[in-house]
Parts: sequence; structure tokens; C-alpha cells
Amino acid sequence: MNVILLGPPGVGKGTLASIAQERLGLVQISTGGMLRRHLRLGDELGIIAKAYIDDGELVPDSVIIDMVKERLREEDTQGGYILDGFPRTLYQAEELAKFADIDLIIDLELEHEAIIRRLSGRRACLSCNGTFHMSMLQDETTCPTCGHRLEQRKDDLPETIAHRLEVYEEQTAPLIELYRKKGNLVVVEVDGTVEENYQKMLKVIEENQ
Ligand code: AP5
Repeated sequence: MNVILLGPPGVGKGTLASIAQERLGLVQISTGGMLRRHLRLGDELGIIAKAYIDDGELVPDSVIIDMVKERLREEDTQGGYILDGFPRTLYQAEELAKFADIDLIIDLELEHEAIIRRLSGRRACLSCNGTFHMSMLQDETTCPTCGHRLEQRKDDLPETIAHRLEVYEEQTAPLIELYRKKGNLVVVEVDGTVEENYQKMLKVIEENQ
């Protein structure tokens, strides 16, 4: 099964996609995660993407579409995947339809105040890519999974969070209407614990298999 996880920054796409990968074997394809890996490598794509990511802007469509297209050609995605952070513009959605068959779109929804709380308390591990919330950590500086240092993402600073939410409303939210019209979109309210939200998402996946 091939799934798109839609939803604003900080709603919990990465958290839920990573559990789906672990428990259901759906390969998590996080465009944000892929870009951050290029950033750390300091390669050409990383250099192009850095300023956009740090400013909370979207990386140009051409760069992202090629990156996803290439990733979906890899063998491990053939048994099913979950797209986390893609598509994010109408153009990306149109292009995706040319090279992928998507079975289900799950739109995660949460009120803005809760999103801001989640993003401002997020800490990320640059080594294993784990994502945590400060409230879930005993030691806010050390990754509980691999022991490396945890950091706050640059784009999780308050002014950048506000801008990312504006960019989402302008460029990504229109996809909800697009997919609703196509008929394969389901909305999931993610105002519970991580496990409660995962169970809600799982139910939708099972009902649409
Ligand atoms: P990306 O990394 O995709 O960022 P995003 O969409 O803004 O999403 P986030 O990673 O911020 O949030 P999330 O929804 O995954 O939430 P998470 O699970 O971490 O993209 C970064 C940048 O890359 C973009 O700004 C853009 O520049 C570029 N980019 C990426 N894709 C692109 C594309 N397609 N086109 C163009 N540019 C692109 O959860 C957030 C926090 O909440 C965590 O701390 C988590 O622990 C906590 N949390 C989760 N669930 C719960 C819960 N139930 N209760 C309490 N806390 C919770």
C-alpha cells in the first residue's frame, strides 16, 4: 500500500510514519529527512536546500521531485511506502501522479497552538534521525536511542515556525481539496498521545486496504 501523510509542520507526520515503518513495514520516505541528510553531507543538493530550509521556505519543486522519483525507483519501496512531507505543492502532486500509484491520503489535523507547542519542544538527533519532544525526555541533551547529542532544528525557532505555517496554508493546504475531490482522502484528528494517534491512523489504513 502506498500512502501520503499530509498535514502542517509539527502535526506528527514523521513520528507516525516512523512507527508505521517499524510495525507495518511501509517504507518511510521523509523529504525533510532526506534533505537534512544532504545538508549534513554538504553535497550540492544540501547546499541548494540549506537557505530554503533555514528560512522555512519550500525547496524548489524540480529538486524535490527528482529526489523522490529516484527514491521510489529503489527496490525497498516496492512493497509499499508512506510519503512524509511530499507532495507539498499542487505541482508536486501533479508530477507524483505521473510516476506513483497512491492508494490513500491521510490528512493529519491539529489546532495551531498544539502544533506550536510540539515544534518548539522538539529535539532531533543528528546521528540516528530520532525525533523527540522535550516533555518525553529525562535528559534533554542526549538521544535516548543512540546516546548522541540532541539539537533543536534551526527551523523550529519561533519566527520560522510561524512562517512555515503560513507557507503550509498558502502552498500545501490546497492539496486537501484536490485529494478530497479525487475521493481517497481521510482526515485524522491527532490530538491524542502518539500511540492513540497511531491507532487512529492504523484503523484508517486497515479500512482502506
Ligand atoms: P520537514 O522535515 O518535512 O518538516 P515539516 O513538514 O515542517 O514537518 P516536521 O518535520 O516539522 O513535523 P512533523 O509533522 O513530521 O512532526 P514530528 O513527527 O516531527 O521539512 C523541513 C523542510 O524541508 C521544509 O520546511 C522545506 O524547506 C523542506 N522540504 C521538505 N519537503 C519538501 C517538499 N516536498 N517540497 C519542498 N520543500 C520541502 O512531531 C513534531 C514534534 O511533536 C516532535 O517533537 C514529536 O516528538 C512531538 N509529537 C508528535 N506526536 C506527538 C503527540 N501525540 N503528543 C505530543 N507530542 C508529539
